[in-house]
Amino acid sequence: MSDIILNVQQLHKDYVGEVNYKALKGIDFQLKRNEFVSVMGPSGSGKTTFLNCISTIDRPTNGSITINQKNPYELNDEDLAKFRRSELGFVFQDFNLVHTLTVEENILLPLTLDAVNAKEMTSRLAEVVEFLGIEEIMKKRTFEISGGQKQRVAIARAVIHQPSLLLADEPTGNLDSKAANSVMTLFQSIHETFQTSLLMVTHDPYVASFAERVIFMQDGMLYNEIQRGDHKKQFYQEIVDTLTFLGGGYHEL
Ligand SMILES: Nc1ncnc2c1ncn2[C@@H]1O[C@H](COP(=O)(O)OP(=O)(O)O)[C@@H](O)[C@H]1O
Ligand SMILES: [Mg+2]
Repeated sequence: MSDIILNVQQLHKDYVGEVNYKALKGIDFQLKRNEFVSVMGPSGSGKTTFLNCISTIDRPTNGSITINQKNPYELNDEDLAKFRRSELGFVFQDFNLVHTLTVEENILLPLTLDAVNAKEMTSRLAEVVEFLGIEEIMKKRTFEISGGQKQRVAIARAVIHQPSLLLADEPTGNLDSKAANSVMTLFQSIHETFQTSLLMVTHDPYVASFAERVIFMQDGMLYNEIQRGDHKKQFYQEIVDTLTFLGGGYHEL
């Protein structure tokens, strides 16, 4: 097994429309198996586009992406659907839950789509629900629970099929700081317990400091990266300093 879970080479993405826009201009990036990396950068720098190309929501204009040594863009539609469900988990800022379903039905959705048998579903559900501490809300509808609970449910749905790569775009963007902190603690324990590789976009330096490495994007390119040492507080300060530098440079352009 390769120790690289995600290999991105010379990734380019042009949005073609009335005005063409080069959103990604040649990104090289590798995520190690069981690594947790945060992606930061100014608004419009291409973070979401980067994640969407990896998750196959957006098709790259050029370059290559392999996840677990497979190139999702070389698969046919049916195999791609299977690949996404088995290898990838997604968590979004706005939770993306299905409002007509209960919490339990939302969490089971990926397994239902994969026609997993009932016994296996029940045991996986029990494990995830216990791990996330959401037993008491299983029969509720999504409008009956708080934002922090919604994100827990979305995370449960994203990890129930044990993806090798978990992708999150601003997962704490709609949460207050208390709920954000608890979601990040949860990500960290998922990462440690299940050896899930994690790539997460955030604009919040505190949230970013939960990762082992932070990469900074600017203007469709990778600008810098910093590795966490022994001290989270020092890591946080380095992130803030880099953002200050990047922010200044960005506005001067
Ligand atoms: N579907 C699209 N069509 C055209 N331009 C887009 C589209 N999606 C994003 N962009 C542009 O690409 C750039 C990068 O966007 P995005 O990846 O969303 O940045 P970020 O997530 O860092 O804020 C922005 O300038 C944005 O306006
Ligand atoms: Mg974005």
